Amino acid sequence: MNIRAVRVEDLAGMQACNLHNLPENYTMKYYLYHALSWPSLSYVAEDHNGRIVGYILAKMEEVEEQDGQPATDHVPHGHVTSISVMRSYRRLGLAKKLMLQSQEAMSSIYRAAFVSLHVRKSNRAALSLYRDTLGFTVKNIEEKYYADGEDAYAMQLSFPQ
Ligand code: ACO
Repeated sequence: MNIRAVRVEDLAGMQACNLHNLPENYTMKYYLYHALSWPSLSYVAEDHNGRIVGYILAKMEEVEEQDGQPATDHVPHGHVTSISVMRSYRRLGLAKKLMLQSQEAMSSIYRAAFVSLHVRKSNRAALSLYRDTLGFTVKNIEEKYYADGEDAYAMQLSFPQ
């Protein structure tokens, strides 16, 4: 299994993987926005035939504006928009590697102070990956965050400065 930074020609394969694995789906424009804006934050895992079997789609959070000016208290941080691995390739450490590659780039290239993400309260596999394997903590519960009404844990992991 090979893990490498995303290329524009991978986006259709990423989208197919996402559609297969998660109910939260995105337009091609949104994939392109990630890949073109932060090309070092999104990665794919491919099998020996070059088929995309896992991905991480990540970004830096935009600077919020206050009265038309960039907020002065903005702390640069990354955000994992989506990650998934095809079922027959799970428990091989791919998601962990995808997360670590993206986190390393957030910290070293963009000087991110932390990374954030949302995860369904019922998603035991992903929660275990984030909390037990990677060391994320729950910052907040966002009620009815998902379209079907399920709550999300808003999780974060601080990077060493
Ligand atoms: N049950 C319990 N713990 C798990 C499970 C599971 N099914 N899967 C992973 N973990 C934990 C374990 O601690 C594991 O370490 P171990 O295998 O040494 O015990 C650790 O996570 C690392 O596992 P990986 O092999 O790296 O994870 P994998 O490649 O299987 O991918 C993922 C995990 C992405 C959650 C996968 O199950 C998946 O694609 N699920 C469906 C999509 C999904 O839920 N994506 C996350 C949504 S939230 C978001 O996108 C921000």
